[in-house]
Amino acid sequence: MKGVNQAVKTDVSRRSFLTTSAGATLAAAAGATVAGMPLSNTAMAGSHTEPSIVRDMTAANLRGAFGGESMAYMRYVLWANHAEKDEKPEIARLFRAIAESEKVHADNHFEEMGDHPGEELVASMAVFGLGSTSDNLQGGIDGEVFEVEEMYPAFLAVAKKQNEEGAIEAFEYALASEKAHIDLFEKAKEAADKGEDVDMDKIGVCDVCGYTIEGEIPDYCPVCGHSRNHFISFE
Ligand SMILES: [Fe+2]
Ligand SMILES: [Fe+2]
Repeated sequence: MKGVNQAVKTDVSRRSFLTTSAGATLAAAAGATVAGMPLSNTAMAGSHTEPSIVRDMTAANLRGAFGGESMAYMRYVLWANHAEKDEKPEIARLFRAIAESEKVHADNHFEEMGDHPGEELVASMAVFGLGSTSDNLQGGIDGEVFEVEEMYPAFLAVAKKQNEEGAIEAFEYALASEKAHIDLFEKAKEAADKGEDVDMDKIGVCDVCGYTIEGEIPDYCPVCGHSRNHFISFE
């Protein structure tokens, strides 16, 4: 699904931002805002170059990452609902924001696969089930750490070896985002362990790369370089 920002995205190469500074002079527009939920589903949009995956191993890794991100999205939505019932609406808001980020990654991976044929069995690489809110946050941390320390570095190494530029970009975007997710989940878990809700500022999610930030949304995404109107705000 392509969103309303597509025109903005298509004239700015995602790839070029990986090697250039984000401090450009494009006019900044305000990020979309609505309490606890994204204003629109433009996070599904992503900005994609023509899919160009030709090597089977990178394609298999993209399918695996798509599966993992899709499951992470669903786990976080369910854990958000659970945190809401547990009277921790701020932690619920964090789960929903990070779920949105995972959806961006799943979309990017899916699009980069293009029509490369194949099937892949996908393991969740993370816990199943509903524990306490603290348990669920730990489940989130464990899944993110696996992605940051093992999955994405390995997938990136293969994609680089195979010169799959689209996949390299999709994996780099995800890797940068997951690092931020770890910090946010750890902050929330600290509060949950004391039986409290977390005290958190508004959370912004870039709808191009999934980068997630607490606090003021920057004029330009530090990961993909797109302007702030690509951020969805959860507050
Ligand atoms: Fe994540
Ligand atoms: Fe971004």
